[in-house]
Amino acid sequence: MITTIGRDLNKAVDLLSWDKLVAIPTETVYGLAGNALSEKAVATIYAAKNRPHFNPLILHIKNIDEIHRYAEADMHSLNIAKILMPGPVTLLLPKKNNVPDITTAGSNKVAIRIPNHPLTLELLDQIDFPLAAPSANPSGYISPTTASHVFEGLNGKIEYILDGGPTSIGLESTICEVKGNHILMHRLGGISASQLTDLTGLEVREVLHESMPTTAGQMKSHYAPRTPLFRGDIEQLMQVHSGKKIAIISFDKKYEGEKIDCYTLSPEGDLAFAANQLFATLRKIDQANYDIILAAHFPATGIGLAINDRIERAQFLHK
Ligand code: TXA
Ligand code: MG
Repeated sequence: MITTIGRDLNKAVDLLSWDKLVAIPTETVYGLAGNALSEKAVATIYAAKNRPHFNPLILHIKNIDEIHRYAEADMHSLNIAKILMPGPVTLLLPKKNNVPDITTAGSNKVAIRIPNHPLTLELLDQIDFPLAAPSANPSGYISPTTASHVFEGLNGKIEYILDGGPTSIGLESTICEVKGNHILMHRLGGISASQLTDLTGLEVREVLHESMPTTAGQMKSHYAPRTPLFRGDIEQLMQVHSGKKIAIISFDKKYEGEKIDCYTLSPEGDLAFAANQLFATLRKIDQANYDIILAAHFPATGIGLAINDRIERAQFLHK
């Protein structure tokens, strides 16, 4: 199979209608999309990503009314949807029977979001089924924030990449579930806990695993570059690892030394900007010839918490 890149919506609609896969741009990261109601298309998504079958997919829909087609929504969840969708938030809801079990990996809950990207919203408008779309990377690797990142990982495995430019947020959506009068946050992401509380008035509780309690262990080694990554106090780590060829990922500080390159994500100290640079920078470093990556602790506030979460997972395999 030859994978092509372009902005041809008709082609994307056509392929998706035939149960083929198309990578789509969103505001968070690129998704690997197929018809969420087609067992065949969904099976192809798992295969292309080499994704474990117990890890469910998010349904991408075009508007809030569509939520009722695929899920049972309580008042608070609907309110969150009204305030934050389209946007970088995913709601976990009891699923309706028309969503195939393979899409939710057997769970009776379905994750739903409305991606905030004009090209993908237009695409969703032209089809009459929701799109199942995990991040468009081989399972376990860094999520793609440009069409060429998708190509690097999935060339030959999917038909088409719809190029909507670099993503504006650069980290995945925040996964939320309403429980009574509070929100359970299953994955940190584009919307922070404090923003959620400010916007909805609901208390937010963070769940420690990424999403499914039964798979918490397996899911830890996400977002990982091949180059060993260590996280901590940079000055200290530089001493421990002196002599190696080192890439440093820092927030706003610049570090210097022999055989050291420093990638300062935001010299101006802007966390949203840093979040947007993180995955692309990890990829760039991973393609160069470093012995190790040292990553700093980012300020533990707002989207900085999601940055820290991704860096922590990126290092896990190499401990
Ligand atoms: O920003 C995003 O959410 C991106 C873009 C493409 O929309 N998508 C994304 O998908 O990050 P993925 O598959 O890489 O991550 C989805 C997460 C997984 O950790 C999965 O376990 C969880 O959502 N999830 C999906 N459906 C679920 C369900 N029914 N119950 C529990 N967790 C679920
Ligand atoms: Mg992913």
